[in-house]
Amino acid sequence: MLYPWRPSHLRLLFILTIFLVTVSSDLCMHGNHTMQSTPTPPTQVNTSLPVLMGTKAVLCCLPIPLTSVLVTTWKITLRHRPSCTMSYKKDTNETTATNCADERISWASRPDQDPRLQIDPVALSHDGNYSCEIVSRDGNFEHRHHLQVLVPPEVILYVHKNRTAECKAVAGKPAANVSWFPPGDCLTGLDSWANGTVTVWSTCNWPDSNVTIVTCSVSHSTGEKSLSKKLPPAAEGTSRDYFLPVICPIISLIVLGFIWCLICVFRKCKSKNLEAIPDEEEVRSD
Ligand SMILES: *[C@@H]1O[C@H](CO)[C@@H](O)[C@H](O)[C@H]1NC(C)=O
Ligand SMILES: *[C@@H]1O[C@H](CO)[C@@H](O)[C@H](O)[C@H]1NC(C)=O
Ligand SMILES: *[C@@H]1O[C@H](CO)[C@@H](O)[C@H](O)[C@H]1NC(C)=O
Ligand SMILES: *[C@@H]1O[C@H](CO)[C@@H](O)[C@H](O)[C@H]1NC(C)=O
Ligand SMILES: *[C@@H]1O[C@H](CO)[C@@H](O)[C@H](O)[C@H]1NC(C)=O
Ligand SMILES: *[C@@H]1O[C@H](CO)[C@@H](O)[C@H](O)[C@H]1NC(C)=O
Repeated sequence: MLYPWRPSHLRLLFILTIFLVTVSSDLCMHGNHTMQSTPTPPTQVNTSLPVLMGTKAVLCCLPIPLTSVLVTTWKITLRHRPSCTMSYKKDTNETTATNCADERISWASRPDQDPRLQIDPVALSHDGNYSCEIVSRDGNFEHRHHLQVLVPPEVILYVHKNRTAECKAVAGKPAANVSWFPPGDCLTGLDSWANGTVTVWSTCNWPDSNVTIVTCSVSHSTGEKSLSKKLPPAAEGTSRDYFLPVICPIISLIVLGFIWCLICVFRKCKSKNLEAIPDEEEVRSD
């Protein structure tokens, strides 16, 4: 009941991975989407690359024939880090690396045979710009990747006794969208965390008593998840809500009245014992 989305979620991840792999290899083969064919400045391609955290990412360079490549350089610019440069020179068959401390970022294979870069596994800190610069006999080329790390949020749905439901998409990246069916009176907000993830929350109330099941849908770049829960019936909630403020005072009044009667009877008994019979007649005439 709590995780009906798990299998479909896995399937979505799988489909997304396939999609991303297809997209990246596609870009490798025909990376000419935003290519400007001006000869003097480097021919440049910009690619936006969303990648799931925890997976392996392979970043391509432009499909330049390896025989004409003279120098391949990867420039990696991540937030709060000095930029790292990895370079391969064909004439000396030499690889160099400057400021590259992260072992998860490496050449995909042998740089003399394959200019691609690999990140394995992708972490939140790998969000940033990865640029492959190629100096070749046919000119200079640059392929810039803007890598965006995706984290699927954890979805939680709580229902309170007062017919208030709370849905949370915890620590997702980018922020998820939360929607409800049926729509209620909702308050929605988000908390941003230092690691770049965002928790989106939405708290709703359904005054209409014939709303019995509510569904929270979370849509995110990594897929969509929905959770449903039953609301407590309005009547039951009402009687419980009114128990303390209404029924308790009534019971207290009855008890107090009973005690007061007892005191009266006790006092009258006392006076009956002390005084004469005419008083009793007075009482009866009351
Ligand atoms: C370049 O160096 C690698 C290892 O450093 C070596 O395996 C490869 O054969 C060399 N390639 C050439 C063309 O010399
Ligand atoms: C990556 O490049 C984009 C646009 O070129 C820029 O807005 C962004 O600040 C860069 N990110 C980093 C981490 O340098
Ligand atoms: C309902 O109950 C929850 C938890 O007991 C509380 O946080 C919320 O404010 C209540 N909502 C309303 C509308 O009374
Ligand atoms: C990011 O930070 C939040 C809050 O500290 C934490 O709950 C979450 O697990 C973190 N996510 C990752 C992927 O480290
Ligand atoms: C609630 O009941 C009213 C009248 O019976 C009906 O018009 C309305 O569509 C119902 N709403 C839902 C959500 O079932
Ligand atoms: C979230 O909603 C906004 C605006 O309603 C929309 O632009 C965006 O594409 C949505 N994101 C997802 C992941 O559905």
